Amino acid sequence: KIFANTLFIGKHIVSLPSCHSTNDLMAQMSAKKQLHEGAIIITKHQTKGKGQRGSQWDSPEGKNLTFSIFLKPHFLKASQQFELNRMASLALLDVVKNLSADAKVFVKWPNDLILNKRKVAGILIENSINQSGISESIIGIGLNVNQTEDLLPTATSLAKQFEKEFELEKVLLDIVQRLEHYYLILRSGDFRFIHEWYESKLYLKDKVAYYEDSIGKFNGIIRNVHPDGVLEIEDESGIHKKYHFKEVRLLS
Ligand code: BTN
Repeated sequence: KIFANTLFIGKHIVSLPSCHSTNDLMAQMSAKKQLHEGAIIITKHQTKGKGQRGSQWDSPEGKNLTFSIFLKPHFLKASQQFELNRMASLALLDVVKNLSADAKVFVKWPNDLILNKRKVAGILIENSINQSGISESIIGIGLNVNQTEDLLPTATSLAKQFEKEFELEKVLLDIVQRLEHYYLILRSGDFRFIHEWYESKLYLKDKVAYYEDSIGKFNGIIRNVHPDGVLEIEDESGIHKKYHFKEVRLLS
């Protein structure tokens, strides 16, 4: 048995053969005060896995990692929620990068992990906000590890890219360690390094791509991501447009 070399994240792991959604189960357990900060719920199979924008997250039983982490980031204000998206995506990025020196890993705004131009992981963060800031955060992660069949054309897995299988538990512990590393940096209040690293790993930054917003489709270039997570895209006529989460979609 392998143990997480951490202070609090992953010290308590609830492992289930099946559940609806690890995010939903975590929210229920949190409401009953059954969770400590750093607790993890992991399952081999979700019957109602949730993706971003109300989509579904499907994953073949036992092949991939689907889990949620419980945090209490009181030190973040509501306006600083995006720090959690940065932290989670960079933790995943570091782990995947460490598997192979020539893997091309990027973060697609806000927090998809892209490996060799295909999506390898998705993150769904659900926060509870009160007057003093973020009282609770549920960080749900789906990482395609050993799945080699039935992947969408735009998706991939570690096994597919690196042509070998990975031990799920070991990959989980790598992620947990990396997450705690970034979480402690966030808690120290120094966001500079995390902002710079995120910005330098931003997928399609400074490249022309095809986007869709509420007005229509357009060619644009991602210029940067603001501290609060707002994405800035320059359109063909040189106008800089700003988008909150869900307001724009990459088409190509
Ligand atoms: C996305 O759409 O990219 C986000 C996918 C997030 C999936 C994970 S799997 C574990 C956790 N529980 C859920 O129901 N969803 C997240």
